[in-house]
Amino acid sequence: MLNRRQFTRLAGTAALALAAPVPAFAAPTIIKFSHVVAPDTPKGKGAQKFKELAEKYTNGAVIVEVYPNSQLYKDKEELEALQLGAVHMLAPSLAKFGPLGVQEFELFDLPYLMDGYDALRKITDGEVGKMLLGKLEAKGIKGLAYWDNGFKVMSANSPLHTPDDFLGLKMRIQSSKILEAQMQALGAVPQVMAFSEVYQALQTGVVDGTENPPSNMYTQKMHEVQKHASLSNHGYLGYAVIVNKAFWEGLDPAIRSQLDKAMTESTEYANSIAKEENEKSLAAMKAAGKTEFHELTADEKAAWVAVLTPVHEKMSGRIGADLIKQAYAALGR
Ligand code: LMR
Repeated sequence: MLNRRQFTRLAGTAALALAAPVPAFAAPTIIKFSHVVAPDTPKGKGAQKFKELAEKYTNGAVIVEVYPNSQLYKDKEELEALQLGAVHMLAPSLAKFGPLGVQEFELFDLPYLMDGYDALRKITDGEVGKMLLGKLEAKGIKGLAYWDNGFKVMSANSPLHTPDDFLGLKMRIQSSKILEAQMQALGAVPQVMAFSEVYQALQTGVVDGTENPPSNMYTQKMHEVQKHASLSNHGYLGYAVIVNKAFWEGLDPAIRSQLDKAMTESTEYANSIAKEENEKSLAAMKAAGKTEFHELTADEKAAWVAVLTPVHEKMSGRIGADLIKQAYAALGR
């Protein structure tokens, strides 16, 4: 039995523990979240949701500053900035982890690996997804979640109905060797380029075409400088939300657990809007009437599949044959 003094002291301590996680005079912790896409995209909205929830759940002890549209850093620089601690949180596309030395993420770039969000979920929510995030730790990075974007369309200024239509076209790609092999398999000339430079490169003819989920194509106005696009859904583009590990682990555990909660909820949100955001973007581009969108016929699709699926085998050395097998098993193929 506690005596009266012990009880009062304990109650006081409990009340303190329940109060704001940091004393009122402590400066808030700033989390800089940098990304390369527009605010009005699945990733942009997810980042904004994380900001709102993180600030709410920590009672303002954490302030999240979101920097969209490559305002702070472009693709390659943002990863370096994260490792140096100049920014704390990013959500790079899964195609961009190769330069960091974790090229296994390029698994997601294999053409015709997944036929929709349900299949994707089997990878991201399963063992493969967990294992891939774990690989980041050795690089001083912690992987918190997967955020969806969508399935890609191919665009250019000439129609792209069959693989022959790609012959000699300069196609912008993200920094992924699998995407490089994919474009080469189509007879195109792949060109790695930062996302922030793509619109101008298309406009000036530095490259002829590119691939994107509709949300990226629309919000970067690429449809204004691409006359044709095929709704090929040949590949997926999505993200891993990552943080500087030392920064994250150095946070007060009570604060971190509120941030984990904010991340879980913003992940649910981002992944619940991605499909619809892409549908809305596609509809808006169709309405704008600058790009002609082509639905592949069954024969055309068969020709794309025939040319592109050998990329799995050809690039198995880069990703790991076992990892590909594991992914196939998860997908039931
Ligand atoms: C791209 O570079 O095309 C994408 O990775 C951009 C993004 O973050 O969605």
